[in-house]
Amino acid sequence: MKITRQLLFFSFVFLLFTCKEQKQEPLVINGKDKVYDTEIEDKVNQLLSRMTLEEKIGQMNQYNGFWDLTGPEPKAGAAAKKYEHLRKGYVGSMLNVRGVSEVRKVQKIAVEDSRLGIPLIIGFDVIHGYKTLSPIPLAESASWDLEAIKKSAQMAAEEASAAGINWTFAPMVDISRDARWGRVMEGAGEDTFLGSKIAEARVRGFQGDDLSQFNSIAACAKHLAAYGFAESGRDYNTADIGTSTLHNVVLPPFKAAKDAGVRTVMNSFNELNGIPATADEYLQRDILKGKWNFDGFIVSDWGSITEMIAHGYAKDGSHAAELAVKAGSDMDMESYLYVEELAQLVKEGKVKESLIDDSVRRILRVKYELGLFDDPYKYCNETREKEVIGSEKIHAASLDMAKKSIVLLKNEKNLLPLKKKGQKIALIGALASDKTSPLGSWRIAADDSTAVSVLEGLHQYEGNTITYAKGADVSIGKSQFATEVKINTDDKTGFNEAIQAAKSADVVVMVLGEHGFQSGEGRSRTELGLPGVQQELLEAIHKVNKNIVLVLNNGRPLTISWADENIPAIVEAWQLGTESGHAIAQVLYGDYNPSGKLPMTFPRNVGQVPLYYNYKSTGRPILPAPDVVFWSHYQDQVNSPLYPFGHGLSYTTFKYEDIAVQNNYNTTGKVEVTVTLTNTGKLKGKEVVQLYIRDLYASITRPVKELKGFELVELNPGESKNITFTLTKDELGFFNNQGEFLLEPGDFKIFIGGSSYTTLESEFKIEP
Ligand code: BGC
Repeated sequence: MKITRQLLFFSFVFLLFTCKEQKQEPLVINGKDKVYDTEIEDKVNQLLSRMTLEEKIGQMNQYNGFWDLTGPEPKAGAAAKKYEHLRKGYVGSMLNVRGVSEVRKVQKIAVEDSRLGIPLIIGFDVIHGYKTLSPIPLAESASWDLEAIKKSAQMAAEEASAAGINWTFAPMVDISRDARWGRVMEGAGEDTFLGSKIAEARVRGFQGDDLSQFNSIAACAKHLAAYGFAESGRDYNTADIGTSTLHNVVLPPFKAAKDAGVRTVMNSFNELNGIPATADEYLQRDILKGKWNFDGFIVSDWGSITEMIAHGYAKDGSHAAELAVKAGSDMDMESYLYVEELAQLVKEGKVKESLIDDSVRRILRVKYELGLFDDPYKYCNETREKEVIGSEKIHAASLDMAKKSIVLLKNEKNLLPLKKKGQKIALIGALASDKTSPLGSWRIAADDSTAVSVLEGLHQYEGNTITYAKGADVSIGKSQFATEVKINTDDKTGFNEAIQAAKSADVVVMVLGEHGFQSGEGRSRTELGLPGVQQELLEAIHKVNKNIVLVLNNGRPLTISWADENIPAIVEAWQLGTESGHAIAQVLYGDYNPSGKLPMTFPRNVGQVPLYYNYKSTGRPILPAPDVVFWSHYQDQVNSPLYPFGHGLSYTTFKYEDIAVQNNYNTTGKVEVTVTLTNTGKLKGKEVVQLYIRDLYASITRPVKELKGFELVELNPGESKNITFTLTKDELGFFNNQGEFLLEPGDFKIFIGGSSYTTLESEFKIEP
């Protein structure tokens, strides 16, 4: 039986090659930008013409792995059905099957046992690395270093592809302005311009220049759309945003990913303006596949098709499948509804077979592009797996990215960098010795306790003595992946030991914040302070020693107003991945001069959230007189954030001067803006020079500031550099409520500086 199928498969492959026509010129479809590879299109069409309806629907079906293929074949339950479906060719993709030997097993069934032998595409959440983790995406975004971010994605692809994986569910390109939402850790922060550039860098990193290379994998821009606008920051909650926000804030990073060639897109769990995104025809068919001409495929989010019943949108499973496929969702992740319902829907005439054909064509196209038909086992090389996973090269890249992701929030009296000799250092905090938390919550393939802790990192420097005291546990709550579960603790028994250590220390380094499992999917919070009794610990230590360096570990902005007022040095170190402790130690000791800038605003308290730098002015933005009540403000808190978007210090200092607009938009079609940056400190350092615009009046009101350019510049002490930014209609225009892009004449302000709070400004006009 097996032999006959194998023969069939090989004769099929032979047929494809012999039928291959001479390579033709690429075909331009619809006169738009997509150029198809006609050779692949021919193969896709030939294969499609040989498929039964059930086999076509099978390609649209994705199953989760996790069943024991090494043991006996499962005989009962859902796993048995999945196995049988795999053999029948009713599965197009699997996720969470990983490691060469496991991937080879499922691929072998699909390729050798099914009638047509169509290879599986193997998906996995390679969010910030596979087994060797780089910083969480929010942290990487703090580097504003697009080359480094691209390289990090490249390294992730290198490692994951060596483990048999050829498709990642990344990058998450959701913009979010709400630190309560746990998944802010997975994105690029609050800004659309920065988010779009990072989306592009990540897609290019994962996919490389040639998708058919053995070390590049297909990327997936997710979650279409507005998942990051979940009301009250509660994951999976309803999103209700206006068209201006949709087109100007939410969609551009998806467009940037599409333009960078992303091969897949994932829709989202949330409903948007009353329609679950999975069934949103406007987003998927009209915009993504229509206006943008996206020719890859859309995968649903996990069970999001069936969840439309709970949303109150679909009557039952059959209805949900019908709605999803009509709206353009090509692949069903773990709802089992396409495989169960679509054939019947086609037979009843409720779903046209041409819709199924379109989805299958898209899926097969990506499989051909990956080279899976040429060699379904191209990602299954045991020697490569051994050599690549955890290699020195990948660790070095992870360390490099980790250092670049650190943001120096505050550094009074140059408490940092630490002296390398003769110091007594008290190191305090459970997170300081934690080797799991720095891995974050998206670390399915990484083993517990594989990160370098801060304690280990500091021990690399032998000139000082270190006394470590935990002080208090960090509460991590329940976690799907954590092997160790600590529930909120008010245990202060460790305080005394920590206080004693601090009393006799020259400097206290406190590593406090959230455990890696406190942010991520399903991990929203209503309080954004230091969890558990860590705030009390900080205050208790401060009573006995004021020389504190606070190192924050967190997956989101935290409300740390007390620390900002009382602690002289604060370092934002997020969750930095496998090399975390080394990176933190090198920054604390000044072997690396930090240059990170916040990709999200830090609020003063939760009541200010959502708080973001590119807000709208309102009609009452400014306090008219000291005793006036009726203006846009709070009675109990100022409007400004604790740390603004774009903020971040260095061990050196920079001066900005001579901002000037060089030319006239009306005569040249662009605006060139220059500024001079000087390193006024004593150390070599890097600065992210940021350019913001304000369109003073427009047919759709524009934000008070919008990032429209940035450049990472490295300068020696005393060195100056002239920097030029070029603004074209792409940066100066905006979308109206119909989703049309406009550039309107009018008055603009330009701001350049080291954060969104810069006041160095100039102006220009676009004449009618
Ligand atoms: C998440 C996706 C993820 C998928 C597969 C879902 O719960 O929302 O982002 O890719 O699971 O693991």
